[in-house]
Amino acid sequence: MASHLTAPYGGSLVNLQLEPDKAEKLKQQSRDWASWNLTRRQICDLELLSNGAFSPLTGFMGQADYDSVCKNETLANGTYWPVPITLDVPEETAKKLKVGDTLTLRDMEGVMPAVIQVSDIWQPDLKAEAKHLYGTTDEKDPAVSRLMNQTNPYYIGGELLSIQPVHHYDFVELRLSPAKLREKFASMGSRRIVSFQSQDIIHRSEYELTSRIMKLLKANLLIQPLVGLPEAGDIHHYTRIRCCQEIIRHYPRNSTVLGILPLIQRQGAGSKQVLLAAIAAKNFGCTHTIAQPENRDDCSDKNSHWFDDAQHKAEKIGIELVPFEKMLYLERQDRFVTKEQAPEDLQALTISHRDLQERLDWGKEVPAWSSFPEVVKELRRAYPPRSKQGFTVFFSGLPSSGKSTLANVLMVKLLEIGGRRVTLLDGDIVRRNLSSELGFSKEHRDINIRRIGFVASQITKNGGTAICAPIAPYNRIREQVREMIAAGGGFVLVHVATPLEVCEQRDRKGLFAKARAGVIKEFTGISDPYEIPHDAELTIDTTQISSEEAVQDVILYLEEQGYIGPEA
Ligand code: PPS
Repeated sequence: MASHLTAPYGGSLVNLQLEPDKAEKLKQQSRDWASWNLTRRQICDLELLSNGAFSPLTGFMGQADYDSVCKNETLANGTYWPVPITLDVPEETAKKLKVGDTLTLRDMEGVMPAVIQVSDIWQPDLKAEAKHLYGTTDEKDPAVSRLMNQTNPYYIGGELLSIQPVHHYDFVELRLSPAKLREKFASMGSRRIVSFQSQDIIHRSEYELTSRIMKLLKANLLIQPLVGLPEAGDIHHYTRIRCCQEIIRHYPRNSTVLGILPLIQRQGAGSKQVLLAAIAAKNFGCTHTIAQPENRDDCSDKNSHWFDDAQHKAEKIGIELVPFEKMLYLERQDRFVTKEQAPEDLQALTISHRDLQERLDWGKEVPAWSSFPEVVKELRRAYPPRSKQGFTVFFSGLPSSGKSTLANVLMVKLLEIGGRRVTLLDGDIVRRNLSSELGFSKEHRDINIRRIGFVASQITKNGGTAICAPIAPYNRIREQVREMIAAGGGFVLVHVATPLEVCEQRDRKGLFAKARAGVIKEFTGISDPYEIPHDAELTIDTTQISSEEAVQDVILYLEEQGYIGPEA
């Protein structure tokens, strides 16, 4: 390795990869050992541990390091370390293990990237961890809630032995280990390298900022798109990296390298997350890293407290932080400047995420100064205007409230308008075809709605139209379904708010009578609850209006929102 590159954190790059014959032997032996299927987060941590990006760590933290990080922000030996890197497992896995055992680690496909030689098994104090990482134990904070409710109760610590690199099918040529990147920088003759670790699309403002920093520091640039393991069909991940591949052509020749960083974002951890990323950057050979606050839209105060605090700690890592600044566009001069450089009397332009998203949603022009045309083209491919996006209309209401009729009329009207492929997921249809084994307990209803939500999310994501019409009596699961579907298109919740008396009077299937007589148990509205939605886009009471009139309201709403209309 060339000596003019900055030293890895702790002096040398950890390499946990075993020689092929040793790896093969371990694979054979592993048949008798307990095995753990890694979560997506754990796979990302494992990859960075195995390839040395988390040097000097050589495995998932044991209890002494964990306690020390939570208490003092250092490893047990005093080395600065901002966040715990831990392997959480459920009780049944922990109970099978004792100190000295070897645990086989497998990825989602059952492939075995590594084993861990168990040195510690303990139940962490997650409240103390939350307090350290997020400064609060309040579960209303989403990061705290995730830690407290989605973490398995036992942590396993120990050295890792890497059998094979974590496997990826996408952008393989961009998955460079610290050792590979260091080789590359050495061959480029780079001494100063600044990393830009980005979770977002790189637009002109970020391009101008990074170019400016490269010039000021006389440094090469390493663009590191931060990616976790994408869920199947996560468009954003692929789009982001394709956009980076386009952007990179705009920098001077041989000045910039692109390398994916599978670093899970500890959202809410503030400067601690920045410093963990800085450790990785240092191990990849960088002398500088651009430090961004969590929310870029309200960023760019380089004197702010968090930056000073982070800078001070970065000194211990041996890397320099460069503040992220939002660059402003001066229209008359056709150039970008920092906030400080902007003349007071001139109006500078910026474009926010929301602004851009709205322009894409409505198929409006994206100003040429704000982004490179290749990037805008990629974005338009990934985020077509609403008239080309999929959407779901989700009717929810009491039995006999009119959901099925409205759903059917809406389907017919949409087919009459044309241009959309429509799938009807009516309560009865779903119960016959997808959920025939389910009853009406809360648990079964939630499973039923989750299935409907999943199918509708797939349809929506792929540009189709789904119309759902179950009772869906519970808020929580309706919210989850909204989240699932809205990630890939439109979601419109229509509360069919026909009052109980009217539904009971209609009693199309005679079920209310049976429920009153106690023949049917857990009947919604009679002996089972219906939680009124607080987030419905539309509320329709079918007592006084015809189905056509009611559906007209839905059609108007869809037009207003741009999902249907002249261009669709
Ligand atoms: S849920 O709660 O969303 O899972 O219900 P869903 O799948 O929409 O099924 C509702 C239809 O099933 C009939 N049915 C019952 N409904 C509510 N409670 C009980 N216990 C029950 N037993 C049978 C009822 O006819 C519902 O049809 P709709 O079309 O809503 O009137």
